[in-house]
Order: sequence, then C-alpha cells, then structure tokens
Amino acid sequence: MRKTIVVIGASQGIGAELVNLFAKDENHLVIAFARTIEQNNRWASYENVRVHNLDLSSSSLQTDLTELLNNYPQVDYLVNNAGFLVNKPFLELSYQDIIQSYQVNILGVMQALQVFIPKMLQQGGHVVNISSMGAFQGSVKFAGLSTYSSSKAALTNLTEMLAEEFKDTNIKFNCLCLGAVQTEMLAKAFPGYEAPVLPREMAEFIVNFTLNQWKWINGKVIPVSLSTP
Ligand SMILES: NC(=O)c1ccc[n+]([C@@H]2O[C@H](COP(=O)([O-])OP(=O)(O)OC[C@H]3O[C@@H](n4cnc5c(N)ncnc54)[C@H](OP(=O)(O)O)[C@@H]3O)[C@@H](O)[C@H]2O)c1
Repeated sequence: MRKTIVVIGASQGIGAELVNLFAKDENHLVIAFARTIEQNNRWASYENVRVHNLDLSSSSLQTDLTELLNNYPQVDYLVNNAGFLVNKPFLELSYQDIIQSYQVNILGVMQALQVFIPKMLQQGGHVVNISSMGAFQGSVKFAGLSTYSSSKAALTNLTEMLAEEFKDTNIKFNCLCLGAVQTEMLAKAFPGYEAPVLPREMAEFIVNFTLNQWKWINGKVIPVSLSTP
C-alpha cells in the first residue's frame, strides 16, 4: 500500500535531499512543506511529490495545515526537519530573534503535531523530530547559539513526552540530534567550518531511520554525529 510521507522544512539543505530520496520509491507519496517552497518547485515533474508553502511561525498555521491535509486521507511518516538559527551573543538577542527561533523550532512543531497526530492515530506511524547535538544533554556547547540550541532542546524533550502520552497507540516518536552537515545553516553557525557530512549523506541516514527503525525504537533522543561541532 502507498505510504504518505511528510517532510517539513523541505526547500533546501537536508530537507530537500530527504524529498529526493523518499520520492525514489514510487510507492511513496511525498508531501514537502516549507515557507518558500512553491516558487522553486524542483519536483514539479515528479508524479509522487506534492509541495505546499507552510510557515511554522504563522498565526494561521493550524488552519492552513488542516486545509492542506484535507487533500490527503492519511499520513504514515512525518519528519519535522525545519529549523531556524540565530548566531548572536546572548545579550544581543532581540525579542524577535528569540520568538522566531522558538516559533519554528518548537512552538510551530507542537501546533503542527496537534493537526498531524489525529491523522496518524488510526493506522499508526512514525514521527521523527530533527534536533541538534547542541540540544543533546552533556554535549559540547558553542557561544552564540543559545536561543537555537535551547529551542531545539525543547524538541528533544517533547519527543519523550509524546512517546509516553501516545504509548498505547501505534504512533512512534523519535528525535535525531544531528552533528555538523554542510548546509547554509551550518555556514551561519560556524562560518568557514567544513563539515565531514553532506546533506545527501545525512538524508540517507534519516530516510532509513524513518522508514525502518520505528519497529524497535520509541521515545529516544539519538545523537547522529561524526564531529564536534
Ligand atoms: N546543518 C547542520 O549542521 C545541522 C546540525 C544540527 C541540526 N540541524 C538541523 O537539521 C535540520 C535541517 O537543517 P539544514 O542545515 O538543512 O537547514 P537549512 O538549509 O537552513 O534548511 C532549513 C529548512 O527549514 C525551513 N524553514 C525555516 N523556517 C521555516 C518556517 N518558518 N516554516 C517552515 N519551514 C521553515 C527552510 O525553508 P524556508 O527557507 O523556505 O522557510 C528550510 O527548508 C534543521 O532542523 C536543523 O536545525 C542541522
């Protein structure tokens, strides 16, 4: 049976590679969301990819998402891959910097999950939250990333909470804390640093994890890192 896979934060970087890889299998219907994805629809010729603009920081997020998902009877896999990073000393962070980080990295994800979970309850599924090594307890920390890393840390905890709250259903929740991957976000966090991992390589890991590992793992926060940072 055809599986429906949603990737949020799919316009570039790791998310775009996730869509490429998930879409390789014709039995997958891939729904790709990001703020600015429709203008640059690189999957226009793909029969099994749909793209939609969705802003995790919008006040109409839940109504927008509910309306978009009306076109899809079910969701089997959800990868919450969107992320927003500000690199600034703590004392220089504006209220807007903090709000936007928390809105994209945790509050919008919570609101989106309130729409997705009811769609997954009947047939079960796997929710994979993409967090960061900076949000992993006990990891090396880097100055300038306080609002990014602390908002991503909330996502790691939310994963454990939801696995508990929905343990009697067939939905599994896991969180991957990524190490450095060569993307625009990494260049913002660590200018000039060269990561040992390409977006395609990390996407290969995430695709395999999403499709296969829910059978054995639930409510886990897993570091996925070759380097520091
Ligand atoms: N690269 C790394 O080294 C690294 C390390 C640890 C964790 N991560 C995590 O891995 C994930 C992917 O990172 P990346 O490096 O590929 O980042 P990226 O290239 O900056 O891509 C981020 C994605 O998030 C989307 N996004 C941002 N704000 C959004 C909003 N308000 N609503 C909806 N979508 C939004 C962006 O789309 P638009 O621009 O269209 O909004 C884009 O598709 C992120 O969660 C990041 O925190 C990355």
